[in-house]
Amino acid sequence: MLTIALPKGRIAEETLDKFEKAFGEKFVFENRKLILEKSGFRFLNVRNQDVPTYVMHGAADLGVVGQDVLEEKEYDLIKLLNLQLGKCKVAFGLRKGEKLDMTKSKITVATKHEKIAKKYFEEKAMAVEIIKLYGSIELAPLVGLSDCIVDIVETGETMKQNGLEVGPTIMESSAHLIANKNSFYAKKDLILDLKEKIEATL
Ligand code: PRP
Repeated sequence: MLTIALPKGRIAEETLDKFEKAFGEKFVFENRKLILEKSGFRFLNVRNQDVPTYVMHGAADLGVVGQDVLEEKEYDLIKLLNLQLGKCKVAFGLRKGEKLDMTKSKITVATKHEKIAKKYFEEKAMAVEIIKLYGSIELAPLVGLSDCIVDIVETGETMKQNGLEVGPTIMESSAHLIANKNSFYAKKDLILDLKEKIEATL
C-alpha cells in the first residue's frame, strides 16, 4: 500500500487522471471525503502547503506539490519526478504603469512566499520589508499595505483584474512527485514502479 498526499483542487484531479492512465483504473474522491482508498493506493486530500508536512512525517509515503512550496521551506525529502502540471511562475505584481524601483531605500513586498521574495532581494543586496499574507495578495498594493507583491501567476488574469501588472519573474514552478526518505528505501520497488508508470504518461 502506498499513501499519497494530493493538494486539494485541480492538481489533485489532474494527478488522479495520470494514475488512471498509468494503472487503468478511475480514482475519484467522493464528496467531501479526505481519503480515497483503492487498488493498493491511499490518496489523501490536503491543503497545498501541507503536502510536504504529511510526507516529512511519514504520514504519506508520497506527495504532489509545487516547486514553489518546496522552495519556501527546506524539506528533507526526495524529489522523484516533475509531473509537468500546475505550471506557473512566482513573479512580482506592480501597480499599473509602475516599475520595481531599485533605487528606493526600502521596498515593501506583500507575499505568501516570504523566503523566495527575501532571497531575491538579498541577492541584489537590497533592503526589503516582507509583509506575510495568506491570500488575496493582489489587494495589498491597491490599499497601500505594500509597494508591490510577489505571487503565483498562471494566466495573469487575477493581477489584471485587480489593476496590477505582472513584473519580473523570480522562478518557474510546476507540480513534483516527492517521497519520504524512509518510505523510499522501505518501498523502493513499489515507488520506482509507480514513478516509471506515471513518467510514461507524461
Ligand atoms: C494563485 C495566486 C493568484 C492566482 C493567479 O492562487 O495567488 O491569486 O492563483 O492565477 P492567474 O494568474 O491565472 O490569475 P491559487 O489559485 O493558487 O490559490 P491560493 O491563493 O489559495 O494559493
